[in-house]
Amino acid sequence: MHHFAYRRGVSHASVLHAEEVDLCALADTVGTPFYCYSTATLERHYRVFAEAFAAAPDTLVCYSIKANSNLGVLTTLAALGAGMDVVSEGELRRALAVNVAPDRIAFSGVGKTKEEMAFALDEGIFAFNVESEPELRALSEVAASKGLEARIALRVNPDVDAKTHHKIATGKAENKFGVPFDQAPSLYRQAVTLPGIMPAGVHMHIGSQITDLSPFRNAFALLSELVGTLRGGGITIDFVNLGGGLGIPYRPDEAAPPLPTEYAALVKEAVGDLGVRLLFEPGRMIAGNAGILVSRVLYVKPNQTKTFTIVDAGMNDLIRPTLYEAHHQILPLVEPTPETPTRITDVVGPVCETGDYLALQRPLPELHAGDLIAVMTAGAYGAVQASQYNSRLLVPEVLVSGDRYCVTRPRPSYDDMLAAERLPEWI
Ligand code: LLP
Repeated sequence: MHHFAYRRGVSHASVLHAEEVDLCALADTVGTPFYCYSTATLERHYRVFAEAFAAAPDTLVCYSIKANSNLGVLTTLAALGAGMDVVSEGELRRALAVNVAPDRIAFSGVGKTKEEMAFALDEGIFAFNVESEPELRALSEVAASKGLEARIALRVNPDVDAKTHHKIATGKAENKFGVPFDQAPSLYRQAVTLPGIMPAGVHMHIGSQITDLSPFRNAFALLSELVGTLRGGGITIDFVNLGGGLGIPYRPDEAAPPLPTEYAALVKEAVGDLGVRLLFEPGRMIAGNAGILVSRVLYVKPNQTKTFTIVDAGMNDLIRPTLYEAHHQILPLVEPTPETPTRITDVVGPVCETGDYLALQRPLPELHAGDLIAVMTAGAYGAVQASQYNSRLLVPEVLVSGDRYCVTRPRPSYDDMLAAERLPEWI
């Protein structure tokens, strides 16, 4: 459910709107390409997830900043009471910048530096999700040198198949994430003895875009077993962090993924009796279909075998199709009429790479130079994964609320781009 829909427009009969904002009019003002996010959709998704756990008295939903770290998005979620899941000092600073209380922030990631640990300790974050023994020792050194104590959860790799794209599965033994399930008890015993370390939780995150509940069920059964083992060994565990959220639908015709309420029932069954605080780190299901990428058709180029629709957004703006063979629905901003013919086309960007495409062999209403399109479900892992490849400017991000909009990240100028670099003095 999202708030992008065709409605009567300013200069066309039916135009895609973000809430009450006419996207053709917005494109004329902001220029293309740009990302556009819907506040109402962000709020709805956060609430639906949080409310699914309303019966669990002690739950902390830490929005996973990596999905979309735009300050407008973060401030919207912070206002609803979201905690935040961060994976770098940069993300931590973003959470703090929108006034998220440090004790609602969890720090994940396999490669935290000592500087990042020191910063997070000074800020007093809720917990570190520790991913290896050397990281545990480094954190101990940093915390002890400051006379502070780091609350930690070990991220445990349960070696379960999350049945998702191989590049976003994280809970198999061959993935770099977490510590092996079998080694976890001895690492916890070690953690208890280390200065500056207070083991208090267990963390698991088995992957992203998971649309089948059974991998969660298997993983959480192991997590529950582990909590029993640890407690049997005299280790206090007062929270479990169950990682990211559910997968979302990217195609209009695909089966709906499980509902947050179904996920909540599974969680209750698996860990409800442990008497622990529950942490979650959803990203995609909060931000994914709260955002679109708006782009303009530059040229339509038929060759011997196919037709290329060349648009002004490329793989540097949205890399998901190239990187994960991801499908994003494409809609013309001006609603096609029943008479509009359908054409099969590759929608490609201006970047000098064969892999620069937004859609391959896609049946779409016939498009012409100058037409505007929306690449749907681009709110998560879209703008955050953008680059300046080919010296293309990062695209602006616009947050809509009702009939208002705010360009939360303006398009930089070419002067900004050039001014960010220095010339060597020896030439
Ligand atoms: N927690 C941890 C430790 C994570 O690594 C992730 C995502 C999340 C939470 C949030 O998961 P979500 O609720 O969004 O599924 N760039 C890829 C996705 C990478 C996911 C990385 N980790 C994509 O575009 O599909």
